[in-house]
Amino acid sequence: MSHANDTSGYQTGFGNEFATEAVAGVLPTGQNSPQKVAKGLYAEQLSGSAFTAPRHRNLRSWLYRILPAAQHSPFRALAHATFHNRFDEAPATPNQMRWDPLPMPAAGTDFVDGLFTMGGNGGPAEQAGVGIHQYLANRSMAGRYFYNADGELLLVPQQGRLRVRTELGVLDLEPLEIGVVPRGVRFLVELPDGEARGYIAENFGAPLHLPDLGPIGANGLAHPRDFLTPVAAYEDLDGDFALIAKFQGTLWQADINHSPLDVVAWHGNYAPYKYDLRRFNTIGSIAVDHPDPSIFTVLTSASDTPGVANMDFVIFPPRWLVAEHTFRPPYFHRNIASEFMGLITGAYDAKAGGFVPGGSSLHNCMSGHGPDNASFEKASNADVSKADHITGTMAFMFETRKVIRPSQQALDSAALQGDYYECWRGLKKHFDPHGA
Ligand SMILES: [Fe+2]
Repeated sequence: MSHANDTSGYQTGFGNEFATEAVAGVLPTGQNSPQKVAKGLYAEQLSGSAFTAPRHRNLRSWLYRILPAAQHSPFRALAHATFHNRFDEAPATPNQMRWDPLPMPAAGTDFVDGLFTMGGNGGPAEQAGVGIHQYLANRSMAGRYFYNADGELLLVPQQGRLRVRTELGVLDLEPLEIGVVPRGVRFLVELPDGEARGYIAENFGAPLHLPDLGPIGANGLAHPRDFLTPVAAYEDLDGDFALIAKFQGTLWQADINHSPLDVVAWHGNYAPYKYDLRRFNTIGSIAVDHPDPSIFTVLTSASDTPGVANMDFVIFPPRWLVAEHTFRPPYFHRNIASEFMGLITGAYDAKAGGFVPGGSSLHNCMSGHGPDNASFEKASNADVSKADHITGTMAFMFETRKVIRPSQQALDSAALQGDYYECWRGLKKHFDPHGA
């Protein structure tokens, strides 16, 4: 027997108390777990926070499904050559690092097979830190379903669309959109364009949340109403399928004789969502100087220390630069935070070359970096009486509290640029104690 429900569509808002049903009359009224759920479904709670978390951080959804998530064969270890959380394989280096885009894999590689760990910090056991990965795929997942018990997945497509079919509905993603699949939610990824590449933050810490706005006020940056959560969509499929779990840093696989994407209705605030980065309300200086990049934060994962994030997701979108008497690109800096960057499209305004779409860079705690020589010379001599319009670009940063430790395979990759440090070599001494 098979039946696929193709309901597509979204509910708007960030972390709202959503309610959606693909078959009318399923959601119970006035309670979560009736003695008998309508249409012969099972009720199951999916918790994404401690039961006793403060109300504004409490996350859970009630799922009404054809079979409970408990029904599958035992898991057995599943090897994966390039996807892991071993962040102690190589010494964490203070060197500035940059990579070209990784090559596309052999034909027949799906989203799970094509995961490649770049580095990370912390881990699932301590429920803090972040794994940083790329995905490179050229085949849709079929008969294989995946969930990550170790963290939520922030997907940043760079090339090719993704159709992420989750237990709670369908997320259609394209480059310049991001998607978040919460910890534990089962899904598969289809590739409408046949090939896809992108970046992933595997957030082991507190779930991503909109940042507080402080003196910015009630509006600005990413607006809650621009976040989209799917409506319920289910499939009723029997067959010989695989359920793949990521659990404590490694993969496991169980046989399952039905599709786990069998949730007919659900309500709650723990659900996948997507956001179009082109909707970001970018805020910057209209006087002098360049604000710190925290002004570009889309989402943040809180740590146990107020004001110090486990990770921030930050973007560098198209924008006007109007600051007078000012060096307008991102300035030279060293931070206590560590910064992994990627480029979705276009060029990044602090680099004249070498950082290309699909590429990556890593600048760790207190490692000096900033504009390359060509960008410095250009911006130092630009006419800042006129506005600059930066267009056709989108760079992003996973900024983390802890040092990002590159994986051995990232250090060994032919895509690693051995000459990255050269981009600052051309910077000359301009110092003249008798000059202006
Ligand atoms: Fe930086």
